[in-house]
Amino acid sequence: MSFFKKKKKFERVLPRHIAIIMDGNGRWAKKRSLPRSAGHSAGSKNFKTIARYCNKIGLEYLTVYAFSTENWKRPKEEVDNIMNILRDYLKDAKNFKDENIRVKFIGNISQLDEDIRELIDDAERESADATGLRLNIALNYGGRDEITNAVREIVKEKIPYDEITEETVSEHLYTAGQPDPDFIIRPSGEYRLSNYLIWQAAYAEYWFSDVLWPDFGPKDLERAIDDYNHRSRRFGGI
Ligand code: FPP
Repeated sequence: MSFFKKKKKFERVLPRHIAIIMDGNGRWAKKRSLPRSAGHSAGSKNFKTIARYCNKIGLEYLTVYAFSTENWKRPKEEVDNIMNILRDYLKDAKNFKDENIRVKFIGNISQLDEDIRELIDDAERESADATGLRLNIALNYGGRDEITNAVREIVKEKIPYDEITEETVSEHLYTAGQPDPDFIIRPSGEYRLSNYLIWQAAYAEYWFSDVLWPDFGPKDLERAIDDYNHRSRRFGGI
């Protein structure tokens, strides 16, 4: 009998840490002749569904890409729209408290508007004791920016060059203390990492799907996790 036949729903081996690139909101809206803002609203709604689902199945870490350091190149109207979606999400404290989800923002938060920074502080503080899913929201995040920032910190702390190891670098990333993502999911038919978790992704498994993010539901995630269960991870060994 196969592994899956023996296992009941949700009894698959879960990765410890899943990272998702929430891509395809714009195309989802275009297909429906809607403005891009409608795609981001639908993407945000789906983000909440997926975060809740991950919490329910007992995932330890979920990291989502909400806004990259490159996304500032978009028209101001679209940037403002995404920031307003974030504001609404952050203002709804129920998102964190009631659901036992611990939230953390990764990225260059210092460049964001003051009210968003305050909302982020509140959300992180209010959810700090939650024991369920650890949710990282990557905001004004770029992998190269993160590594550059880590190098700067290491130099500032005057750590002797011969004492600098891979662990030293990991400990100076926004994700310090967290396990690396095991599984990176990118919906919407693109096959690239787009500066996402480039240090942490060294040994991750990948899953690409043509489904656009607002439509990427729990069933799609289950399918991806099923596939992950068939991967043989050797981390460079045999
Ligand atoms: C990529 O799709 C999506 C984004 C750059 C924004 C993602 C943001 C959200 C889903 C809202 C996040 C909200 C919270 C509360 C975390 P795209 O616009 O590049 O789509 P396209 O490639 O089809 O144009």
